[in-house]
Amino acid sequence: MNASPGAVADIIVLHGARTSLVLECVAGGAPLWRYWGPALHADGAPWPPLASQRPTPSSSPDTDQPFSLFPTFGGGWFNQSALLAHRDGRDFHQAFQRCEIDWREPGRAAVVRLFDDVAALTIEVSLAMSAEDDTLTISTVLTNTGDGVLEVQWLAAGVLPLPERSANVRSFVGRHMDEFRPVEDALSRSGWRRENRRGLTSHGCFPGAVVTTPGTTHDTGLTYGVHLAWSGNHAQLIDSFDDGRFQWQMGEWLAPGEVRLGPGERLASPEMIAVCSAGGLNGVAQGFHVAARRRIAWPGGTMRPRPASLNTWEGFYFRHDQAELRQLASLAAGIGMERFVLDDGWFRGRNNDTTSLGDWTPDPAKYPEGLGDLIDYVTGLGLEFGLWVEPEMVNPDSDLLRAHPDWALELAGRPRLTARNQLVLDLTRPEVVDYLFGAIDTLLRGHPIGYLKWDHNRDLATAGGAGGRAAYHNQILAAYGLMARLRAAHPEVEIEACAGGGGRIDMGVLRHTHRFWTSDNIDAVSRLGIQRGFLQFFPPEIMGAHVGADPAHTTGRGQSMAFRAAVALPGHFGVELDLRKLDTADLARLADKVRLYKDLRGILHGGRVWLGDGEDGMVWQAHADAAETELVVLAYRADPASFGHAAPLRLPMLAAEARYRVRRVDRDADAEGQIASGARLGAIGWPMPPLRAERAVILRLTRLDGPT
Ligand code: DGJ
Repeated sequence: MNASPGAVADIIVLHGARTSLVLECVAGGAPLWRYWGPALHADGAPWPPLASQRPTPSSSPDTDQPFSLFPTFGGGWFNQSALLAHRDGRDFHQAFQRCEIDWREPGRAAVVRLFDDVAALTIEVSLAMSAEDDTLTISTVLTNTGDGVLEVQWLAAGVLPLPERSANVRSFVGRHMDEFRPVEDALSRSGWRRENRRGLTSHGCFPGAVVTTPGTTHDTGLTYGVHLAWSGNHAQLIDSFDDGRFQWQMGEWLAPGEVRLGPGERLASPEMIAVCSAGGLNGVAQGFHVAARRRIAWPGGTMRPRPASLNTWEGFYFRHDQAELRQLASLAAGIGMERFVLDDGWFRGRNNDTTSLGDWTPDPAKYPEGLGDLIDYVTGLGLEFGLWVEPEMVNPDSDLLRAHPDWALELAGRPRLTARNQLVLDLTRPEVVDYLFGAIDTLLRGHPIGYLKWDHNRDLATAGGAGGRAAYHNQILAAYGLMARLRAAHPEVEIEACAGGGGRIDMGVLRHTHRFWTSDNIDAVSRLGIQRGFLQFFPPEIMGAHVGADPAHTTGRGQSMAFRAAVALPGHFGVELDLRKLDTADLARLADKVRLYKDLRGILHGGRVWLGDGEDGMVWQAHADAAETELVVLAYRADPASFGHAAPLRLPMLAAEARYRVRRVDRDADAEGQIASGARLGAIGWPMPPLRAERAVILRLTRLDGPT
């Protein structure tokens, strides 16, 4: 302890509506973490310096190194460093002599600038706390102010404190067709680490996690969440200290030699978005939803109702017969669909997945007059037209690669590793981006195309760019740049981010896109879990959710039309099957569900969402409109019941003092509904009918005035 008694610390405080963050400025170093958690009142009471409260333990350096905003290796900090870098083997130890605070918005946003004159580098940590949703956005910029090249192995986007009582970390694993599978690990004195080296966000290692404290539920308990807004490699780690706390770091995983900063050059990290809530998993999800909504650049500035979308993929695959597609479009219009997306198979020579990626002109065999005829037909029916593309990819069997054999990412002397028979174009070459921009721009200029489904069907392997160096980081920036350029040229066009389903779901790509294709698995039972994982971070209106065929193509399992539609309904609803194969009864049922979606989407999309577990295996979710006077509750039973009588469905998020009219809307029978208080629905619940497996109930709640 080396602070004088009665000394007062120099404190940086950021307040959200329900969250506060406190750092302590110290002479000659990075500010120290004092607090990140539920709001502290601005009570004016002084903070004693940490140094006055922390005796040095035995057998430790005499100069204490408490946990800082940007802890660095080498000067008595023995935990994970926020920076791992060296200059030809030297300057591996970084420590700061000076710190400047640059307030961007008093009490809300600041840039903390740290100077290491010995290792010749600066660090700028940007911190911004949103008053609206309490999300904290952190990012870091490293600048090489020295003479030689600075090799960077790790730059944390952000470093956050977790309290001593942090208990579990819930992260998300998976694979193609099984995204967002939660896995729970207990936090201990051992470290926790997840790394993704697949070159894009990945199906199996989502860049985000949630930390819970003992007793956390969907609705209660101190809970923390982070997400890295980046579509490439990443690492996340939680590391315990000998004072019982933990640090949480996230950042881009860098391949060896990938970042070598010349004099004056800088490396900017992606943004790390963090939420702290006393309201459990739902509190964290609601913070992320608002943060995600803020990032989306909607055409015209605001989201229009999400159009019911017909996608051709699972109904037709590569079989593009214009007469059949017209029949499909007519049926789609007939049941009320609003957007028609022509998926893979439309460009020249593309009859299977071995060929033609890169050759972005209509296939003359399937579309002898080009796409115009089909587009006119579709738009003539009142449907918007959307088109599938996979710009970053090329097949070895393509005119593009034959003309430019050096355009794919590769490493001299190494085999070219194909996946789904395709290679990845080197977007770090400006001529490649120009070609892709030109090809897509021509399509968009030539036709009224309102929507692109932008796919990416493989990981990056052998990702060697110019000079044989790893190209991951620059490839992602170039892909974002291409999307931004196309959006600038065609601001009315929406983009769906897809990577074999949910391989590129993150808030980095969300700056340029408007929907995610959540998973290639559209089996409704599988989707229940996948969508619940998605909703932990992203709002429902950007969650692509389709009614697929019976049986589902990916699992072979079949479900009723009612159940398939009930699972797709809360998301950005779509249909992905050959409507010509439905019998009249199912077609009529589907038309009803499209009507229901249109009735409810104003409530489903844009407001708060709560997930919950009912009794006996039931799961439910509730979506409120912005005013929270209307709610939709969707309750699902995937497996058979074990109770003889169904337990009531308790809805704890309602205003206890209000009355609600509750109507079952997945059937006509209940037009009047029943009235109950929020308190009663929270404490006792809504009486549920007995449900067989793979059944759902959809309720609409309207808030009425006054108590019962
Ligand atoms: C993968 C996507 O996730 C599918 O929806 C479909 O677009 C195929 N690619 C097309 O190749």
